[in-house]
Amino acid sequence: MIIAQLSDPHVDVDGTEFHNLYQTAEKFKVALDKAANFSPKPDAIVITGDLVNCGDAPSYAILKDIIERTEIPVYLGMGNHDCRDTLRSTFPDHSYIPKNGFIQYAWEMNGHKMIMLDTNIPGEPGGVLCKQRLEWLEKSLKEDPEKPTVIFMHHPPFKTGIKAMDDMGLADAHKLGEILEKHDQVIRIFCGHLHRSILSNFHGVQAQICPSTTHNIVLHLEKSSRLATTSEPSEFLLHIWNDEGDIVTHNCFTEPSPILWEKE
Ligand SMILES: [Fe+2]
Ligand SMILES: [Fe+2]
Repeated sequence: MIIAQLSDPHVDVDGTEFHNLYQTAEKFKVALDKAANFSPKPDAIVITGDLVNCGDAPSYAILKDIIERTEIPVYLGMGNHDCRDTLRSTFPDHSYIPKNGFIQYAWEMNGHKMIMLDTNIPGEPGGVLCKQRLEWLEKSLKEDPEKPTVIFMHHPPFKTGIKAMDDMGLADAHKLGEILEKHDQVIRIFCGHLHRSILSNFHGVQAQICPSTTHNIVLHLEKSSRLATTSEPSEFLLHIWNDEGDIVTHNCFTEPSPILWEKE
């Protein structure tokens, strides 16, 4: 089983200053096509939030046009730049999206459970899992204690050392940690938001950040709040479940690179 995780496409309409700087829709299209046409084909594509940059309907319409290029099931998650109502109304055919409330849901693939959490606080760059969302998560985990489970969410629950981004991280992350400590079937957490490839451990669970399909955040580890973007190559992640049920994750550059040497 293979899941391609893409994150933070920040799709925007033509002509804005943001679009002129990053060409996000074009880059998302390149990334999605590369993931969807990978051999062997992924069984699903998961996009962990900041689907569009301004939460607006025209940007979601562009996102939808690009997503519809593939037949592979696509699962969408909320980021801080997203709008629940507009996301819902743009994708009425994505039946896994709850009809109201938070955009949290679970689905199964090959005996494994996938959970998407919604960390969005409308109008805020940071995220949170409030009591209601945590209770939903705990209920879902209690339903399938034996099933290996992966959690997808936008805001990572751990500090990265990039202060400006950590300042807009997940509030009260320890409350998620307390739940994970009671449910050891959770084997991985996959996030977005940081626009960099970062790996850590959170309350005994390996937690990994998927880079953005568009711009990267500069690796700035000083104590100041400097925040800058860079044109480092865009990436997505390929999560591959091996025969032992473990997950092997590969970083994949979205842009093509020439083959330098080859042997069959
Ligand atoms: Fe983002
Ligand atoms: Fe974000």
